[in-house]
Parts: sequence; C-alpha cells; structure tokens
Amino acid sequence: MATAILSALAEEQAGLIEQLDSPERVRHAGRDFWLGRLHGQPVVLALSRIGKVAAATTATALIERFAVERVLFTGVAGGLASEVRVGDLVLATGFVQHDLDVSPLYPRFQVPFYGRDRFECDEALKTILLRAINVALAGSKGIFDSEIGVLKPTVHTGLLASGDRFVSSAIESFALQAALRSAGHEPLAVEMEGAAVAQVCFDFGVPLAAVRTISDRADDNAHVDFPRFVLDIASRVAREVVKAFLEGLPAR
Ligand code: ADE
Repeated sequence: MATAILSALAEEQAGLIEQLDSPERVRHAGRDFWLGRLHGQPVVLALSRIGKVAAATTATALIERFAVERVLFTGVAGGLASEVRVGDLVLATGFVQHDLDVSPLYPRFQVPFYGRDRFECDEALKTILLRAINVALAGSKGIFDSEIGVLKPTVHTGLLASGDRFVSSAIESFALQAALRSAGHEPLAVEMEGAAVAQVCFDFGVPLAAVRTISDRADDNAHVDFPRFVLDIASRVAREVVKAFLEGLPAR
C-alpha cells in the first residue's frame, strides 16, 4: 500500500512529480492523482486544492480509491502566534476548524456527532516527520536562500487552525486567536484544509502527519508575502522534507 503525499499547491507538487519513478497519472473526481515510486516508496501524489470541501474530496479519494495507508500533508500557512515567523515550519499536532460554529446547539468549534473540536495527527508519523524536517534543514544549503534573504527557520510543534478564508488582516488574525483561545485552543498558524483532511483520516482510521511552512503572518501584508513565498521556498522545503520522510519509513 502506498503513502499519499498531499500538497496544498501545484508549485509544491511539481517538484515531486519530476522525481517520480514509473509515473502514472490517473484522473478521478476531476483531479489528477500521480502514482509511482519516490525515494524507494510507493506513493500517490495529489493536490488538496484550496478550502476544506475540496481537501476532503481529495483525501477521501486517496483513501477509498487508492487505498493509501498513510497521508503526509505539506503546505503553507499564515503565522498566528507571535513567535511563528515567515520561513518557519510548523509540525502539526492536530487541527481545529476556526470557522465551525453550531452554537448554541453545540459548543463553538465542536464538530457535531464527534464530540470533539480537534482531530489529532498520528504520534508515530509525527516522530518520523520531525526527524525528516531536521534532516532536511540540516542539509538545506540553499533551500532557504531567497530574495527576502536567507531564512533561519525555527521548527514549531502545535495546533493548526483551518477555515474557508484567507486571513489577510491583523484584526481578523487577533479576533480568530481570541475566539479560539477562549475555547482553550492556542493555534500556531492558520490555513484552509488541514482540519478537513484530519477529519477524513479520522473517519477512515488512516494515520496523518502534516507540516506547514509559514508563508505570511496572516496580517495586512499576507496577500503580498504569500505568492512570493510559495514560488520561492515552499516547494523546495516540501521536496526535501518529503524525501527525508519517505527515507525514514520502513523499506518496501
Ligand atoms: N495559507 C497561507 N497563508 C494563509 C492565510 N493567511 N490564511 C489562510 N490560509 C493561509
């Protein structure tokens, strides 16, 4: 059974497709899935697309149609916590949906019928991924050289918040953090897909690991920083981390 490498953006995925041995493209659910071997492991590469519904469809297809045994999700995110800076990496412990609110029927952020607001990543895969991130960073000569300077990334581990909006103002970022904090959640960063993928993986009992590179600070400059960053660095980070992650899995 294969490992799914789920990328949030086409720029991240492009470098992986280039490296695929015996690539086969399968069109399903209006999407391209790339099957092949990468660094000695059978893989299926897919794009989450943008937003929770699109990501849930992709994750479901990976599991139901391609029977993947684990999911690695890479992407970018906007930093929320003050110590999380552009260029840093966040290893996800779990995900919460910042835009889910069925109150007063259920507590705000709780996913009805699950009795929980968070979906956690898999402990064992998280350990492999953290090791992979450290390997990638140790050998990262040039990965973080960009037109905005040479970044010295810090690796953070913690909660990510997902929702169907690109957070592009400091006011919105603070409001989102305050609301989540009042329910006991301290997210490090915000993105638009992870919680949906985590819920689908939970439903099917498929282990998930996820890492996000910080592309912007989810503030008034977010729309300027984001496209520059995605093209410049995120795809290089994804390539190196995916390589080290696959090499860290048991041989197939
Ligand atoms: N992904 C990257 N940056 C983001 C932001 N500011 N808001 C939502 N998703 C993001």
